[in-house]
Amino acid sequence: MSRFTVTVTRRLPEAVEARLQTLFDVRLREDDRPLTREELTAADCDVLVPTLSDKIDAAVIAGAGPELKLIASFGAGTDHIDLPAAKARGIAVTNTPDVLTQDTADIFLALILSAARGLGEGERLLRAGGWTGWSPTNLLGRSVTGKTLAIVGMGRIGRALARRAKACGMRIQYHNRRRLDAAAQAETDARWSPELDPLLAAADVVALCCPYSRETHHLIDARRLALLKPDAFLINAARGAVVAEEALLEALEGGRIAGAGLDVYPKEPEVNPRFLALPNVTLLPHLGSATIEGRTAMGEKVIANILAWSRGEDLPDRVV
Ligand code: DGY
Repeated sequence: MSRFTVTVTRRLPEAVEARLQTLFDVRLREDDRPLTREELTAADCDVLVPTLSDKIDAAVIAGAGPELKLIASFGAGTDHIDLPAAKARGIAVTNTPDVLTQDTADIFLALILSAARGLGEGERLLRAGGWTGWSPTNLLGRSVTGKTLAIVGMGRIGRALARRAKACGMRIQYHNRRRLDAAAQAETDARWSPELDPLLAAADVVALCCPYSRETHHLIDARRLALLKPDAFLINAARGAVVAEEALLEALEGGRIAGAGLDVYPKEPEVNPRFLALPNVTLLPHLGSATIEGRTAMGEKVIANILAWSRGEDLPDRVV
């Protein structure tokens, strides 16, 4: 058993909790309620294992005990942690990239198909007993084959989505700071667009795969939504605040775009009720990485980072 203490803020998959218990002096949760700010600040441990539902801001970091040395976050995104504040206090931060890439790309593809083909609407109709049988003209969606998919943010998840979308016969264009190397680009026949605006104007489907940061806050605002074609779909499984929510609602309510697929929201778990009234929007409860395999692998990454830290080795997934 370790001499340091590890506090985990949410329930983790059973196999992960069991392994944490065999390795460390760990405090696990009995229920899955997110901790309050006060509870987070009072966590009083050497290693904190938070998730994206814990806001580790400068005040929480400033209030944490002096023994806090590592924040081993369970998740890829680190926008819930004030990284400069952690750095200033000499606290290392790690995350769990890679292992959720394929599952998250699957959810992007599911949202594309659901939005374009009206899967949510069809399912709701059937469950409500409203289906009267096959019809040549009912519930007609849009074909994705041959359509242009604009991927905004061509990191691991963007590239995994591009491979899937290529298999669906979509044409891929992407916006990224840097062009992919020739091999990665050839794999998906993806075309780089150094400018975002012309890409948005050309797309049939726009998928937001970029991390959330100051630079990507409201990246898709009213002006950019106005660039989309009237029959375009917007897909967001990155972070809610990458899109200006009010502008998106207005575009959808005004019929200025064809629909949307959303897995993330600015104030989760709150979902603006105006979305619920829109039949052409698929709404998922942040399912991106939600598989047993993915969440277990994320837990293994957390453990690998804590072990490396405890041995004074390089942290495999150091962010700070
Ligand atoms: C992450 O890890 O950032 C994902 O959003 C979790 O689903």
